[in-house]
Amino acid sequence: MRIVGLMSGTSADAIDAAVCEISGTPPLLKAHIAHAVTFSYPDGFQKRILNACAAGRVDELCAINFALGELFAAAALQAIESGGFKPEDIDLIGSHGQTFWHTVEPNGDVSSTLQLGESAVIAERTGITTISNFRTRDVAVGGQGAPLTGYADWLLLRHPTQWRAVQNIGGIGNVTFLPPLSDSTSLPTAFDTGPGNALIDSAMVLLTNGQQAFDRDGMLARHGKVDEDWLQTLLEHPYYVVKPPKTTGRELFSARMAADLVEEGHRRGLNDAAVIATLTTLTAQSIADAYERFAPTHIDEVILSGGGRSNPVIMELLDALIPARVLSSDQIGVDGDNKEALVFALLAHESWHARAGNLPSLTGASRAVILGDITPGNNYLDLIRGTWNPKSDSV
Ligand SMILES: Nc1ncnc2c1ncn2[C@@H]1O[C@H](COP(=O)(O)OP(=O)(O)O)[C@@H](O)[C@H]1O
Ligand SMILES: [Mg+2]
Repeated sequence: MRIVGLMSGTSADAIDAAVCEISGTPPLLKAHIAHAVTFSYPDGFQKRILNACAAGRVDELCAINFALGELFAAAALQAIESGGFKPEDIDLIGSHGQTFWHTVEPNGDVSSTLQLGESAVIAERTGITTISNFRTRDVAVGGQGAPLTGYADWLLLRHPTQWRAVQNIGGIGNVTFLPPLSDSTSLPTAFDTGPGNALIDSAMVLLTNGQQAFDRDGMLARHGKVDEDWLQTLLEHPYYVVKPPKTTGRELFSARMAADLVEEGHRRGLNDAAVIATLTTLTAQSIADAYERFAPTHIDEVILSGGGRSNPVIMELLDALIPARVLSSDQIGVDGDNKEALVFALLAHESWHARAGNLPSLTGASRAVILGDITPGNNYLDLIRGTWNPKSDSV
């Protein structure tokens, strides 16, 4: 099947849209990205999303849901057209939506989650059957609704003989520890490691009066001296020692927390570069600590995806702090900017074929369930007829 995956994470920086070719049946599923685009939000839209997260008003959330539907549809159409395809060539859209909220109770349970980007608008504008809202079903069976990427990592990224940690660094960091193909007994584990770029980004916005949304190429971090004493205090945040499965988001590692940290850094006499250097090291060190605490065994290889891998200071720190080979996912043939978009295309593929997309060992769900809401497009009946052969049970 040819499926467009759409994703926008907690950074709310852009919509990643990837036209993917997916075939086969797990565990022999094949998936690759044929063409992908990064569809930037219009000026001011990121701020609108982050503000809505911080002080959500229901009329604003209602409006944003439809506005996002239009933008997700436009992102899908841009990926399709710039890849030389037509909407008729596409079987499905798998849309993660824009993350808004993930309610984690004090005991670590997730009681609700909200991703917006109205699928009725996406299906209407593109004509393509759209599967959306993947996380909610996992939460409905007691799961964390995250990480959902782990199942795709398990299907696509296991090494023949070595243990891998597949680390995404978006707004939040998440890892999947993957046993090798040669190991048929171990299960993967996965959880959110803590802040990815979220604190760095929010601090940059504050320190530059909104002029810079992130520390491009780690320029500021590179010129700052890390305050080791403060870093140790920051690493004592209780989230880091909570046992997996666990998930977090901007509700915890928020713009508010970043503002408090900037203030505290200045109070400690640090300049802006030192604040950013310390927060950047916090991201890398919290990831390294998570591996030391929770990796099921020695990890041979770390595969990095997400925007954080484009920050060379984070990459160098991880390389120094983790006793494993640290690679960018691009080095093993997976586009690190669009890996998560590929994952949601893959999950749409699995849902369409009535197969579960969550691994209870990863999310803590009580059972494996078929994920997502199906919104019919113009191709709905053809798609059903083409996929489900009435003469056989196989698909
Ligand atoms: N060249 C770069 N230098 C430093 N940071 C970068 C660079 N490119 C991207 N980033 C970081 O990656 C973030 C976006 O990462 P992304 O994987 O899209 O996150 P999310 O999944 O949360 O949307 C940006 O907000 C920024 O912090
Ligand atoms: Mg992004």
